[in-house]
Amino acid sequence: MWILLWICDHEQTHDAFGNEWLSRDFAMELADLSSNMSKKDHQTTLKTLRQAKPVVLPSMLLCDFGNLAREVALLEEDGVEALHLDVMDGVFVPNMTYGMPIVEAIRKCTQMPIDVHLMIQSPGKYAKAFVDAGADLITFHVETLTSPQDADLLESIRSMGCAAGLAVNPSTPIEQILPFVSRCDLVLVMSVEAGFGGQAFNPVALDRLLHLRSQFGADLLLEVDGGVNLETAGKCVAAGADLLVVGSAIFKQPDYCQALAHLHQSMATVSKDVTKAT
Ligand code: DX5
Ligand code: ZN
Repeated sequence: MWILLWICDHEQTHDAFGNEWLSRDFAMELADLSSNMSKKDHQTTLKTLRQAKPVVLPSMLLCDFGNLAREVALLEEDGVEALHLDVMDGVFVPNMTYGMPIVEAIRKCTQMPIDVHLMIQSPGKYAKAFVDAGADLITFHVETLTSPQDADLLESIRSMGCAAGLAVNPSTPIEQILPFVSRCDLVLVMSVEAGFGGQAFNPVALDRLLHLRSQFGADLLLEVDGGVNLETAGKCVAAGADLLVVGSAIFKQPDYCQALAHLHQSMATVSKDVTKAT
């Protein structure tokens, strides 16, 4: 695109003999096309994920950050279709992780959709920076809303070409999120209290997935995060989860490829007794 813009700026569209080899209009059209192609589009992200569901999203919290590019490449070779990045600020949750530079570094390694889970007190302050860093989906917590107007961040994230959703902790009444669900591309149902990897799965998440799926229909993407492993993955899918975030059950295993294969098997072996999980 830059070459085309340079051509347009310099009107270098004729050869040494004065023959026109590229009309300025055509060059401008190509430049427009190229710029549109590189623009973010949340609909494309959503379509990709809907077609691939159920999708396992490795939570990079436990990956080997010393070899980030290799970790991403390994996961991609093993068939992973999207990544989940946990951003914690030490205020909204009692733990700190990473911010925009890591999202940017991962963006440089892969074309896979990057799902950024903001566990931060003021998501509105930083959402644009995360979109610019390369996020394709952003979820922020319903517990951070100080007024219903704060939920307008959903539309503002979407206007930047990024899919937008709300996350809800198990200890937060589900009623708190319901008024905003129809404005979400995805809802992140936490199956642990946000803040740390390696916690035990809270089955209240299964009831919530069932409830959201029956109330809001098939188009809403439902994501589940926390304690998803060989025992719980199938139940999550049976309850309606499209996106399954997995940390320990991949990164604490000796072989990522095998761990992912086992998870997919367990998701296919959908358990039928999830109508009432608690
Ligand atoms: C918890 C994070 C999760 C976590 C998942 O606050 O949002 O993404 O890393 O890790 P596991 O699968 O180990 O619970
Ligand atoms: Zn997460």
